[in-house]
Amino acid sequence: MKEVMQRVAHSRRYICLFLSLNLFLNPFELQALVSYKPSIVIFLADDLGIGDIGCYGNNTIRSKWHTWLSFYPYYPTNNPVRTPNIDRLAKEGVKLTQHIAAAPLCTPSRAAFLTGRYPIRSGMAGTGHSRVLQWVASSGGLPTNETTFAKILQKQGYATGLIGKWHQGVNCQSRNDHCHHPLNHGFDYFYGMPLSLMGDCQITQPPEKAMSLRTKLWSYTQMIALAVLTLIAAKLTHLVPLSWKTIFLLALFGFSFFIFWFSSFGFIRYWDCIVMRNHEITEQPMNVERAAPLMLREAISFIERNKQGPFFLFVSFLHVHTPLVTTKKFIGKSSHGLYGDNVEEMDWMVGRILDTLDKEHLKNSTLTYFTSDHGGHLEAQEGNAQRGGWNGIYKGGKAMAGWEGGIRVPGLFRWTGMLPEGKVIPEPTSLMDIYPTMVHLAGGTVPQERVIDGRDLMPLLQGSVEHSEHEFMFHYCGMHLHATRWYQKDSGNTWKAHYMTPVFHPEGASGCYKTRFCPCSGEGVRHHNPPLLFDLSKDPSEAMPLSPDTEPLFQAVLKSIDRAVEEHRRTLRPVPQQLSLDNTIWKPWLQPCCGTFPFCSCDKEKDDIENRQQF
Ligand SMILES: *[C@@H]1O[C@H](CO)[C@@H](O)[C@H](O)[C@H]1NC(C)=O
Ligand SMILES: *[C@@H]1O[C@H](CO)[C@@H](O)[C@H](O)[C@H]1NC(C)=O
Ligand SMILES: *[C@@H]1O[C@H](CO)[C@@H](O)[C@H](O)[C@H]1NC(C)=O
Repeated sequence: MKEVMQRVAHSRRYICLFLSLNLFLNPFELQALVSYKPSIVIFLADDLGIGDIGCYGNNTIRSKWHTWLSFYPYYPTNNPVRTPNIDRLAKEGVKLTQHIAAAPLCTPSRAAFLTGRYPIRSGMAGTGHSRVLQWVASSGGLPTNETTFAKILQKQGYATGLIGKWHQGVNCQSRNDHCHHPLNHGFDYFYGMPLSLMGDCQITQPPEKAMSLRTKLWSYTQMIALAVLTLIAAKLTHLVPLSWKTIFLLALFGFSFFIFWFSSFGFIRYWDCIVMRNHEITEQPMNVERAAPLMLREAISFIERNKQGPFFLFVSFLHVHTPLVTTKKFIGKSSHGLYGDNVEEMDWMVGRILDTLDKEHLKNSTLTYFTSDHGGHLEAQEGNAQRGGWNGIYKGGKAMAGWEGGIRVPGLFRWTGMLPEGKVIPEPTSLMDIYPTMVHLAGGTVPQERVIDGRDLMPLLQGSVEHSEHEFMFHYCGMHLHATRWYQKDSGNTWKAHYMTPVFHPEGASGCYKTRFCPCSGEGVRHHNPPLLFDLSKDPSEAMPLSPDTEPLFQAVLKSIDRAVEEHRRTLRPVPQQLSLDNTIWKPWLQPCCGTFPFCSCDKEKDDIENRQQF
């Protein structure tokens, strides 16, 4: 049967070649028909702003006399960040300029990317307690009944590997059930961090999570101590009918809580900054300085092991998330401080992986894609030094779902011979589109019994259609719909209506510098009724809200958008909330641990280097 199918496919190939000679079809469309399954390499940066890379405009215009002037010590040299390798993807492929993340934070955005669905459909949208997974040992994560595109690619015969950050949960009920683990979500191979890089991972950095926890838990501990003391006093004066046993238990509970709080100081690094290879912990805590070279080596070795193809390599960078761990070679290399250095290091890693594809003659048979999970983090600063990404002309950033800066990210596709080179497409597209695009290329079918919000991008990329299939896009902040975009194809306008926007502070800033992250709801947001309306096609920076006086279509546009929102809401179903309080607290019995809990510690990387070189 299989042979017959292959022969049929073969003869089709010749028919198509024949058609090509007859020029019946546009050449790109045709080549897609005769295509085999391409290998796929996806680069996903963490927190990278769209304005950080050369091909998206980080090319500060220099004076003609730049070279001469730059000898003058006070000449302002605002040099661009150098990203020649990422720019190469744009030159050799297609650049999307309205490529939109489904959420402005890691966990929900990546969940949407992997499932092709708005995070609210999988329960991965923040509920108010938490907007991302905070601990390796929380029970929340990408539900096992969600089907990632990696899983479909795996079924289609792809070797699938994830190198880098996961941040979609690990365990459900016990320390080693690994229900949310990458290997349970379609990856044959995983090497990287189950959570995310954070300040606590680097010894030289102030412990960011430990600090906030300390403040929070200290007040709880005080309250518990006070309550227990009150109870004891009440018992002594016979005011409450509690047994000493109950009081003892309550005191014990309070005490354990205190221990937990206290121990969290040094332990966060041990608990959350870990590296795994498949199901095994290799470093606990991780050596952050070593992470970049190890991940690069892993990525290259994955390609070499699987070069007979087809393979799917997902390089999910720890770059350019704080604390911006950068190898010595790159420190001081850019003219944009440690942040720029970190971007340039990531670009170099992209280059090394592209070189490997070239070396193995895989360039033409591999579709390469580059993006970022959401916009740059404006509030990440150290003193006056920039520590987060730059979102170019777009307003807002990470954690802000409505403003363009939080969700408009780079989107580069290269597939030599199959996709045009140097083409720029301004149509609205979504990171969720990767799902059906990859599934179709692999010859699979998308799940039919659930809503998939992404659309196949191949026709748009190849130029066989002119317009994106997306008409409306919904911009969620956690569970709250903050804005809706409407691409009105016949007129070419892209409208965006904001229902809620974060209140910036200090006033006049474009970020929430007091709290580091803008909230989705509560006092930190302003409600707009009627919504704030912009026409992104004329005002991409969302600077001038329209009004019924300035925009004759004002009411009509809002009416169309309202109808679409209503229709969209009808497709939503209640699902278990993965980011509920219960699913985001630290649960000791879920803590992955190398050694005996709570004394978790190991460094297998050191012992393993020789073995790994044989890969
Ligand atoms: C280039 O990126 C750096 C780093 O984010 C930023 O500081 C700088 O303003 C950007 N330059 C331009 C012209 O966008
Ligand atoms: C790759 O594709 C390009 C463009 O179609 C072509 O010029 C080149 O010869 C191809 N290389 C190989 C090794 O097939
Ligand atoms: C997964 O399971 C949950 C809980 O049973 C259910 O609500 C949800 O619809 C399921 N999701 C899919 C995609 O089947």
